[in-house]
Amino acid sequence: MKIIRYFIISLFLNSFQAQAQQENNPAIITTDNPRGWIIQTRSSAYQLVLTKEGQVQQVYYGTKDQFNYQKKNAQWINGADEIPVRGAFPTKTPLLEVVFADHVRDAELAFVNAEILNIEGCQALKIIQKDKYYPLEITSFIRVLPEFDILEKWVSVKNTDKKNSIQIENLQSASVNLPSDAYNLTHMAGEWGHEFQLRNTKLTEGVKTLQARDFKSFTNPNWFMVRPGDESGDTSGAAWFGTLQYSGNWRIDFDKAFNGRLQIVGGINFWDTNWDLKAGTTFETPKFIIGYTRSGSEGAAQNLTAYIRKTILPKQWRNKLRPVLYNSWYATAFNVNEEQQLALAKIAKEIGVELFVIDDGWFKGRNDDHAGLGDWTVDKKKFPDGLQPMIKKINEMGMDFGIWVEPEMVNPNSDLYRAHPDWVFNFPHRTRHEGRNQLMLNLAREDVYQYLLKSLSALLSENNIKFIKWDHNRTLSEPGWPDAPADKQREVRIRYIDNLYRLIDSLRSRFPDVQFEDCSSGGGRVDLGMLSRMDQAWASDNTDPVDRLFIQYGYLSAFPANTMVSWITHEDWHALKATLDYKFDVAMSGVLGIGYDITKWTDAEKKLAAAKIAKYKEIRSLVQFGTLYRLISPFKENRSALQYVADDQSSAVVFCYNMAEYLNGSIEQAQEANTLKLRGLSSNTSYKIPQLNNEIYKGDFLMKVGITWPVKGAYKSVILQVQKAE
Ligand code: DGJ
Repeated sequence: MKIIRYFIISLFLNSFQAQAQQENNPAIITTDNPRGWIIQTRSSAYQLVLTKEGQVQQVYYGTKDQFNYQKKNAQWINGADEIPVRGAFPTKTPLLEVVFADHVRDAELAFVNAEILNIEGCQALKIIQKDKYYPLEITSFIRVLPEFDILEKWVSVKNTDKKNSIQIENLQSASVNLPSDAYNLTHMAGEWGHEFQLRNTKLTEGVKTLQARDFKSFTNPNWFMVRPGDESGDTSGAAWFGTLQYSGNWRIDFDKAFNGRLQIVGGINFWDTNWDLKAGTTFETPKFIIGYTRSGSEGAAQNLTAYIRKTILPKQWRNKLRPVLYNSWYATAFNVNEEQQLALAKIAKEIGVELFVIDDGWFKGRNDDHAGLGDWTVDKKKFPDGLQPMIKKINEMGMDFGIWVEPEMVNPNSDLYRAHPDWVFNFPHRTRHEGRNQLMLNLAREDVYQYLLKSLSALLSENNIKFIKWDHNRTLSEPGWPDAPADKQREVRIRYIDNLYRLIDSLRSRFPDVQFEDCSSGGGRVDLGMLSRMDQAWASDNTDPVDRLFIQYGYLSAFPANTMVSWITHEDWHALKATLDYKFDVAMSGVLGIGYDITKWTDAEKKLAAAKIAKYKEIRSLVQFGTLYRLISPFKENRSALQYVADDQSSAVVFCYNMAEYLNGSIEQAQEANTLKLRGLSSNTSYKIPQLNNEIYKGDFLMKVGITWPVKGAYKSVILQVQKAE
């Protein structure tokens, strides 16, 4: 009775069909038979029911087309709790594991009430459950973004007691259940210099865990895609895809049962972590993002990247074109001075660069990577009059100025560490392990937070800086906080990330016109936690153009092109001697940057660079805001093609790359490997391609018949512009 009394019915409908006739097709409807909720996006339906016993259970998540909520689906994922807890029979991977004050470690939940809210323009289902005996209340949220086929799920847990703490030993953001089937998981793998490599594996019975335990995502960013075992089409077929909005330690478990069902659970990694939930307090998890599409891996990538581009990226820069930048790291490393930076800037301006960025080496004592981190004041030996005179000259040339920082770190050889050796993560009697000769500041500490806010604010207010490249160059070790009270000791990693977000958020609100770039020895920390605060990300320290084709293709599976920073440099990892032309074409498929020592360039090289940068400016709104069709994967063939299409289908740009002289299949299957079929155009529209003698083609022809593969020769490339014919 209690359950019924509390049951808030926001929308009361007798059937799914009745709802469909409603003009104002809501994303969430409340049903009475069975009692529960149906959540709909463009292609998916997610159904929850409330059992007579007061359990909130998932009974369906998948295609909307075959969905009939009243009939067979009711038994479809029998007994899958929306909030699986440690308690009773441990058959599911738990989302919640708590210990109450009297040492009881089992939880038992019952429904309290539900409500449909509007959160920032989208419907969200809020369900409150509470423990049947203990003072624990858990609120789960499902926010619906129908146009991206995405659900955002998260929970908050409240201790409603007046006296005692509850220990949270594990609290994940979401659990999602998929029906009995064979499943393949696509995820990313990698290491420094080889980020975002796509991997595919069959999910057999047992648990497959993707995770981070050292604050880095080199080994795998927190992205995944799951597809039924018999579906692998790029452009069609079912795919569930997801990620976490979190930059600290995380985990995602794929728990496959003998009956074929798959449970996906993700959130903060509570390994060596515990949260002391004090009486009267609440703990909220980060968001778990999950989507469903019937348009294959392409649909998954397009939905997720559009969602990030349109709803996650910081508002200030969301709709702005990213500037072409020059970064001096590869040219000058730590050895920077005003004269040499201005010489680089002069040529950068000549070739069309819009933003000049000084990388590492500008601050006190920073002659190599053994000293200086932590002291965010200018090195007076290198810049006797400070940075501002140089910035002024760069501004007068017509470029904005940006700067590199690595705020979370400190070198033992720095004034900061000499004054505050206790500000780093450490355990007494344990080695303070250094990575790249540096230690990690314990940003969970309020004094560290205040110091960084003050010193970075001073840097930004004393100099006309319009861009920050925020680096993070080591993994976490010995995460001790000796000064903290016992109950906070194992909260340290979560508190660190909370304060990291707070620090970036405070700086962005104090300096709203400054653009931010995320970096972590390359792409070591790319996730939605950072991308909701930073406008773009440095994808890899590896600038070899062929390696980049793989890194970038992987990156673009999950993250939008207007966040993917790509520079051309003189680095030649595999003695490939790739041409400047090829390097530019690879870098132009993201946010273009230049990293060469351009003072050494010949006139011919400068001329080529100027022409490429001009071409990039012509196509960059398509690259940065268009819809990406990854036409040919370098993971499958020894060529690759990416196509970006305007929303109104009036134009497109296609990047075509060869990775060999002889293309796989070009002899046996001549039709296939010699052909390029485009996607996403309008069938009946006529398009002109200037690079193909201004030939006019019907959209239908370009998509169904295709054109001859336009690239000849190893490590050659072609950029095609496809324009609606007048
Ligand atoms: C690592 C980054 O990935 C590089 O681009 C460069 O900024 C160096 N750090 C500087 O130390």
